Amino acid sequence: MEVERVQAVASSILSKGAIPAEYIRPQQEQPSVTTYRGLVPKIPSVDLADADHEGLVRAVADASREWGLFQVVNHGIPAEVIAELQRVGKEFFELPTEEKEKYARPPGAQSLEGYGTRLQKNLDGKKSWVDHLFHKIWPPSSIDYRFWPANPPAYREANEEYAKHIQKVADKLFGCLSLGLGLEEDAMKKAVGGDDLQYNLKINYYPPCPRPDLALGVLPHTDLSALTLLVPNEVPGLQVLKDGKWIDAEYIPNALIVHIGDQVEILSNGEYRSVLHRTTVNKEKARMSWPVFLEPPMEWVVGPLPQLLANQEGKDHASGEPPKYKTKKFKDYMYCKLNKLPQ
Ligand code: SIN
Ligand code: FE2
Repeated sequence: MEVERVQAVASSILSKGAIPAEYIRPQQEQPSVTTYRGLVPKIPSVDLADADHEGLVRAVADASREWGLFQVVNHGIPAEVIAELQRVGKEFFELPTEEKEKYARPPGAQSLEGYGTRLQKNLDGKKSWVDHLFHKIWPPSSIDYRFWPANPPAYREANEEYAKHIQKVADKLFGCLSLGLGLEEDAMKKAVGGDDLQYNLKINYYPPCPRPDLALGVLPHTDLSALTLLVPNEVPGLQVLKDGKWIDAEYIPNALIVHIGDQVEILSNGEYRSVLHRTTVNKEKARMSWPVFLEPPMEWVVGPLPQLLANQEGKDHASGEPPKYKTKKFKDYMYCKLNKLPQ
């Protein structure tokens, strides 16, 4: 069965000013009704080049405890590398449908890689206003180039270049997250797979939508990754649930948006929070985003770090807590989450 791409729906209805009923969210979910417009604290930004390393660790740890999401400036990835990643991704989505469909995720495939529409299962039959391309970018042994577009020709080089740079940012963030819990600097990275950590890129393409007040892009969710590092385009749309209110993330040119994912919440035994977020869409412009999900290998076992738990040798027993999460293989966690089963 042919999957209907949102991009095709969008271009067929653009002049009519209405959207098909399956894209209209129930009223209690509509962004026009649920977006908070009052005064709110801003999503924190951290300066990764801050010479005050202790200050940086504190900023990352505080943001991860209180928000589960923050923006990173001065991350060290050259602006041209990001611009090129964006250019080739945008050019891919602007190719004719037949070209993009060459990379479609084969129906029933075990892997989520490929061009597609909707990763989440929507039980209510409602649809989200977004298409995507999903493929691995690191380590090289995990890459399946069948899902990397051959067009535009610079696609491969741009993505390989970005993959090289993003690792340094990831290492620095994992270091700060570890130190922020009083652990050795390499504790968190080791606990998510060390050098076998997987880097999976998704490109979200949200076509212009005649009724952005009624539709949603990605539905509310937390990321199942350890960390997600995201490049947005200039069209805002990411919202985060803070103290029960949906608030907008502002666009900061050249910043990366970092989400704490479920695996870091589990490792930290709930100290750091994997936060609910969703995306809205824009009437005139296509919104795009490039999240990279940092995930342990499928067979990797993740649970609360023993160093943080009560009754550990050499640990002040008063400050340790009992484990709040089960310890399990990442693939089992993922299976439960994608199939909406209890963890
Ligand atoms: C996502 O959470 O998958 C998308 C976030 C975004 O597009 O900003
Ligand atoms: Fe997400």
